[in-house]
Amino acid sequence: MVQQATLVLLASAAGVIASPVGELQRPFNDLNKRANPARPPPFVGGWSSNGGVHRRQDGDVCTTDSCKKFADSVIAGRAENYTEVDPCTDFATYTCSGWWASHDFRPDQSNIGVLSIMADVNNALMRTILESPYPDNTTINSTYASDNADELDKQNFVKMTAAYESCMDVEAIDAVGAKPLQDILEAYRSESGNATSLTDKLIWVQKYGGSGLVQATTWADDKTPDVTTVALGPGQLGLDAKEYYEDADAIANYTTAIVGMYDNIFGEEEHDKHASLASDIVKLEQALSAATPDPADAASVEYYYNPMPIAEADALLPDVSFANLIKAFAPSNYTVGNVIVLAPEYFPKVSTILSNATSQTVDGYLEWVLIQTWATRLSDDVSAPYRRLQNELTGKDPEAVAERWRTCLTDVDTNIPWIESAFFVRQAFSPEAKTYGERIITDIENVFQEKLKSYEWMSADVKTKAIQKVLNMVEKIGYPDISPNVQDPKALADLYAPVNVTDSWFENGLAYNNFTLTNQWNDLLHPTDKNRWYMTAPTVNAYFNPPTNEIAFPAGIMQQPLFNLDLPEYVSYGAFGAVAGHELTHAFDNGGSHYDETGAYNDWWDNSTLSAFNNKTQCFVDQYSKYSITTPAGEQLNVNGQLTLGENIADGGGLNAAYAAWKERNDEKADQLLPGLEEYTREQLFYLSFGGVWCGERRPAEAVRRIYSDPHSPPNFRIIGTVANQRGFKEAFNCPVKEPTCELW
Ligand SMILES: *[C@@H]1O[C@H](CO)[C@@H](O)[C@H](O)[C@H]1NC(C)=O
Ligand SMILES: *[C@@H]1O[C@H](CO)[C@@H](O)[C@H](O)[C@H]1NC(C)=O
Ligand SMILES: *[C@@H]1O[C@H](CO)[C@@H](O)[C@H](O)[C@H]1NC(C)=O
Ligand SMILES: *[C@@H]1O[C@H](CO)[C@@H](O)[C@H](O)[C@H]1NC(C)=O
Ligand SMILES: *[C@@H]1O[C@H](CO)[C@@H](O)[C@H](O)[C@H]1NC(C)=O
Ligand SMILES: *[C@@H]1O[C@H](CO)[C@@H](O)[C@H](O)[C@H]1NC(C)=O
Ligand SMILES: *[C@@H]1O[C@H](CO)[C@@H](O)[C@H](O)[C@H]1NC(C)=O
Ligand SMILES: *[C@@H]1O[C@H](CO)[C@@H](O)[C@H](O)[C@H]1NC(C)=O
Ligand SMILES: *[C@@H]1O[C@H](CO)[C@@H](O)[C@H](O)[C@H]1NC(C)=O
Ligand SMILES: *[C@@H]1O[C@H](CO)[C@@H](O)[C@H](O)[C@H]1NC(C)=O
Ligand SMILES: *[C@@H]1O[C@H](CO)[C@@H](O)[C@H](O)[C@H]1NC(C)=O
Ligand SMILES: [Zn+2]
Repeated sequence: MVQQATLVLLASAAGVIASPVGELQRPFNDLNKRANPARPPPFVGGWSSNGGVHRRQDGDVCTTDSCKKFADSVIAGRAENYTEVDPCTDFATYTCSGWWASHDFRPDQSNIGVLSIMADVNNALMRTILESPYPDNTTINSTYASDNADELDKQNFVKMTAAYESCMDVEAIDAVGAKPLQDILEAYRSESGNATSLTDKLIWVQKYGGSGLVQATTWADDKTPDVTTVALGPGQLGLDAKEYYEDADAIANYTTAIVGMYDNIFGEEEHDKHASLASDIVKLEQALSAATPDPADAASVEYYYNPMPIAEADALLPDVSFANLIKAFAPSNYTVGNVIVLAPEYFPKVSTILSNATSQTVDGYLEWVLIQTWATRLSDDVSAPYRRLQNELTGKDPEAVAERWRTCLTDVDTNIPWIESAFFVRQAFSPEAKTYGERIITDIENVFQEKLKSYEWMSADVKTKAIQKVLNMVEKIGYPDISPNVQDPKALADLYAPVNVTDSWFENGLAYNNFTLTNQWNDLLHPTDKNRWYMTAPTVNAYFNPPTNEIAFPAGIMQQPLFNLDLPEYVSYGAFGAVAGHELTHAFDNGGSHYDETGAYNDWWDNSTLSAFNNKTQCFVDQYSKYSITTPAGEQLNVNGQLTLGENIADGGGLNAAYAAWKERNDEKADQLLPGLEEYTREQLFYLSFGGVWCGERRPAEAVRRIYSDPHSPPNFRIIGTVANQRGFKEAFNCPVKEPTCELW
């Protein structure tokens, strides 16, 4: 179960390698040519001559190699003609246009940025680990050394590398062709004869990691988050936005992909039958898509929190027995009480849709769900039509294929995450890094509490509770040390004991799927596990999880250029600090603010404070709705200000808190300046470090896909929109208007 807000989704949702349990995710609320040679900056000229922005600072300049290297990267990323670009109106171009000009997409990428380059560095390290012998030169934490710890550690390593190697064995994967999936589908076809109810078919599909029409999953009950319960939401659809189901071009591509996969799996002799079935499947999905909630609603606890007795839920969709569906997965001694119906209007609509569909169409749709779930585990030839579709939707060359090791690394990251994390952190994360990260996060929490005291629009009661919520915040830094303890080889060996890794990549997928399903449903038997992590250690991302009132920062994001112990502090506070502030602010955005200081969904805001809050959030909706991107057809498509509201609030509050926290540190002991960047004040350097996080580009089709489905604003607006809301920025760059465009935290 994932109920969280992420900082940024780096990986494209398309073509993810199945741990096939497609978990229902609580709508994310929270937190990616040629280089210009560096040249000395001019001291006068352009817009800066009157603003006095570019003036050489007196002061101590850091001349270490780390400082030189970092300064050079800022200069290379900055606009070559930066003195002519107004930072007050376009800080994205000011900070990033050198970066844009000097970076290009790999064929398998649709989205690049400073964060994806950090991920590349982490991935290269993980690849080296996976392709080398057991690393004798690293040591197990002495706390967990025991007689057989070395042995267990080696066994864990062997399990992880065996998983990787089964994926790298392209010859074996090609040799079995479509057979493993054919076997599943044949079994499904014989099971789904007339005698089997629709519910039994849905159970079958969900056992194999897919979900059709409905998905049952486990979920921390929002009002009593210590209790894990069952939630029911919509099943999976092949296209990830409603807009695509209304777009003739996308529908044509989708239909072609379905026919292509059917032809590859069942034989081209049946092509005409496949074409007619594909067209029926697409029509059914169009109706289902129209019935699903709008993504901004689906993300809102006020919309999705509908607890009710199972009998009442069952009455919403008489064609399916939710009770039997749950019984098939829940541990036998679990008694179903209330369930949370995540999409109350959807289920009655499904009933109407089913009454207008033949059973062949419904069977075909469910079979197609299974095909999509397992397609990426088949040979590249067999899965080509499906890959082509994902490539088209994300704007890549239709025939692009990722290098095999990347696919296999993602597979290990998804399915053996904690052994992977153990070997990553041993090489890439030090106790000193953890300590510095803790200091930054604590500073930001302290500042945030102080700020809370100052807001005149908040009632005293709400303020007290809000401060308590910050005091209660749980910080997770680096890697899991309890559930599981990744430093303890025995804990990992025990955890993965039920997973048998063989040399068959497909069979391994089935084993991971069983393992995930079993763990997920066993969660019903114990209180919500608050020590669990929802991201692996090498991940370049972060999250806030409302029901556990926690913020988590994997080791993967605590790396340069965001985080560096050897540089002046404005660098790490402006970049990693803004990330930390972003996650903390999620606790008080339009979603997180519904959860109280214990993590429970609970209305703790009085009417007048709430109406002031709503007035301020509306400003963000209006601000970001004015921004737009250019589609592949050359048209302007506006940002969805409502869908991105929580992220935009988090970006603004996060940077504001990080700046105040750094200022206090800088007042105690002034940071050094940077070589080649002496024209900038420390304050300006803080904001340059922030802007540098979000230098990035997307292929035009991918940019469109993200507007439809991603709660984060496009990267350039995460810069432009965020600094427009900072008084500190406007003062540092001496902008004509000092008043923030919108301000909440
Ligand atoms: C800066 O240079 C870029 C090309 O390198 C150009 O497109 C842009 O118009 C220039 N900006 C200004 C303000 O002159
Ligand atoms: C361990 O050895 C590997 C390969 O021999 C090397 O790449 C790595 O940097 C070494 N790690 C440490 C911590 O010495
Ligand atoms: C070893 O584990 C202990 C207990 O979990 C922890 O306090 C310590 O920081 C760890 N040491 C290193 C080098 O990670
Ligand atoms: C399903 O029903 C059809 C017609 O009623 C019949 O011909 C067929 O044998 C049945 N199949 C199964 C698996 O029962
Ligand atoms: C459909 O596929 C074509 C050809 O590959 C591509 O140009 C187009 O952008 C795709 N459309 C969508 C919406 O993905
Ligand atoms: C339910 O069964 C599991 C084993 O299957 C056992 O560990 C657990 O204690 C049982 N719970 C209850 C409430 O009986
Ligand atoms: C019923 O199904 C047909 C064929 O798939 C479709 O054209 C029609 O729009 C559907 N009607 C409703 C009310 O869903
Ligand atoms: C894993 O393999 C062992 C030994 O071959 C076997 O005893 C066990 O049943 C297998 N477990 C699963 C979940 O397949
Ligand atoms: C997955 O679990 C099912 C039983 O639920 C079992 O029949 C099957 O062998 C398991 N597959 C693997 C690969 O562990
Ligand atoms: C607060 O607003 C709600 C909804 O508008 C209303 O029902 C309630 O009576 C109001 N409470 C107070 C104390 O004014
Ligand atoms: C917020 O309140 C101010 C002052 O009362 C008002 O001028 C403004 O129009 C309100 N904004 C919105 C979006 O309601
Ligand atoms: Zn976020």
